[in-house]
Amino acid sequence: MEPDHGASVEQILRRYPNVKVISTEKSFMFMRQFGFHPDSHECRIVAEGDTHCFGKHTVMFVGAPMVHWPEAMVTFDTTNGVLFSADAFGSFIALDGKLFADEVDFDRDWLDEARRYLTNIVGKYGPHIQLLLGKAAGILDQIKYICPLHGPVWRENLGYFIDKYDKWSRYEPEVKGVMIAYASMYGNTEAAAQALAAKLCEKGITDVAVYDVSNTHVSYLISEAFKYSHIALASVTYNLGIYPVMKNFLEDMKALNMQNRTFALIENGSWACKSGDLMQKFIDEEMKNMTVLNERLSMASSLSGDKAAELETLADALAESVRTA
Ligand SMILES: Cc1cc2nc3c(=O)[nH]c(=O)nc-3n(C[C@H](O)[C@H](O)[C@H](O)COP(=O)(O)O)c2cc1C
Repeated sequence: MEPDHGASVEQILRRYPNVKVISTEKSFMFMRQFGFHPDSHECRIVAEGDTHCFGKHTVMFVGAPMVHWPEAMVTFDTTNGVLFSADAFGSFIALDGKLFADEVDFDRDWLDEARRYLTNIVGKYGPHIQLLLGKAAGILDQIKYICPLHGPVWRENLGYFIDKYDKWSRYEPEVKGVMIAYASMYGNTEAAAQALAAKLCEKGITDVAVYDVSNTHVSYLISEAFKYSHIALASVTYNLGIYPVMKNFLEDMKALNMQNRTFALIENGSWACKSGDLMQKFIDEEMKNMTVLNERLSMASSLSGDKAAELETLADALAESVRTA
């Protein structure tokens, strides 16, 4: 009943008075909440495991609560093996005329958007996705097509996408590498973040991505945080706190249940540097199963020459941690 799928239900009810509405009990509740009028039509409440025969096609209903709304249910057409998977296996961006995932270069053009979609929309509910994957595993050999409500239809190599979903919903990184996110006002923290990236690459860790949190929508940061095994956060001190956009990134990671990552910290301040301790405290106390490397790069205004050893030590610790992850 999320409006991006169900907003037109009332229009259908008005135009086709003889329509029969088949739905979960909770969906009927939401229809009424949205001001729709299903009760003046024939209604059938269905639940997990129920089937419905349309004549040629018999479908089975499988509950998928919190993927992405509480009433969600997926429909499996047992006649031809089509799984109408609702928000599961969806992706952002438009199809540009293509309908099937095998008609696009999914890895190159779609994977980032599929991850951004899943992690931001349903990231918090990993265990619920795991539950749905478990149910799907029971009928995997019968699934020929996956038709999500967003993004392309899957008819080949279903295991590829199921595996991605499995990783994301278990909060397991996809890639051994480092996401570096920096928050900088005058550019010195940015310079340190770039210097760390260059050092890591020198040390053979080339899967490194650098983001300016002030100029990147947090949904992209979240997607990258789910992708990488290691996250380096570099923040200025701002009114004795963490820079607000960096704080927001941390809070969003927490809200989405992010876990199982290793962090490295870079802090900066000109008179009372606090951001490192505060980021450490947030990660330690507010997030689950996170490790923060002891080596921290602490800057007073700029990355002066005497900080070379600290930067080197941090890069060494991070590179070693990535290698052994
Ligand atoms: C509004 C504002 C508040 C700040 N608050 C603090 C602060 O509480 N403690 C501190 O040490 N520096 C504070 N600073 C200074 C910056 O954190 C410091 O100069 C830092 O080195 C800037 O790094 P950057 O070049 O990456 O922007 C503040 C700066 C601004 C503009």
